[in-house]
Amino acid sequence: MIEREESALERLDKLLASTGRWSRREVKELVRQGRVRADGRVVLKPEEKLDPAASLTVDGAPVDFATFVYLMLHKPAGLLSATEDRDQPTVLDLLPPELKRRGLFPVGRLDKDTTGLLLLTDDGDLAHRLLSPKKHVDKVYLAQVEGRTDRADAAALAAGLVLGDGLRCLPAGLEPLGDGSRCLVTLREGKYHQVKRMLAARGKPVVSLHRLSMGTLTLDEGLKPGQWRFLTPQEEEELRRLVTST
Ligand code: URA
Repeated sequence: MIEREESALERLDKLLASTGRWSRREVKELVRQGRVRADGRVVLKPEEKLDPAASLTVDGAPVDFATFVYLMLHKPAGLLSATEDRDQPTVLDLLPPELKRRGLFPVGRLDKDTTGLLLLTDDGDLAHRLLSPKKHVDKVYLAQVEGRTDRADAAALAAGLVLGDGLRCLPAGLEPLGDGSRCLVTLREGKYHQVKRMLAARGKPVVSLHRLSMGTLTLDEGLKPGQWRFLTPQEEEELRRLVTST
């Protein structure tokens, strides 16, 4: 939740962008169109400094500083799925400062070399539910492997693999693609290095791994590695429904 200091004045564009609802560029446009008011007065410049306690409206609707922010990121390889690290860059480094300050965190982890869908939010409750082993939220990965996956691998994962260290995996999906050197893996849990360990146990070590979806949320194909966007209200609602109904 965002903290609103009573004293220091803040730029309007920064204040509105901090809600996660609009980018600074969008704020500029809203202001240009005369759609933003502070304490009833139309704001004329996006850089105008305001008391953060001012009552802000956009198109007459009060700006809600209390709601949560949800965004999907196309995680590139080479970044940690963490909020901070002393030595290495994290996925948070891809976000603008006003969003970083909101205390967003990744929902679950992808390995440093794994790419693809990462959900970031400051909604601890939704994150907790999505990650809860009881909810069994499907995660779909595209894996490139050494060798070729086949129907025997699919059957073994469907039966529930037991890994070398005794870890018993829940039944998982595997669908070989093309010649089998690529496959889709669907997990209903998220143990450490799980896809890599499962495929290694089948003698098909992972060469690269990419997450395509998590529950109802699918990586937007328009996002290049490193890019992100806010979830649509519909995507938010579908996720919420998924974890309250299952
Ligand atoms: N399984 C893995 O092995 N690595 C990931 O990053 C995600 C799932």
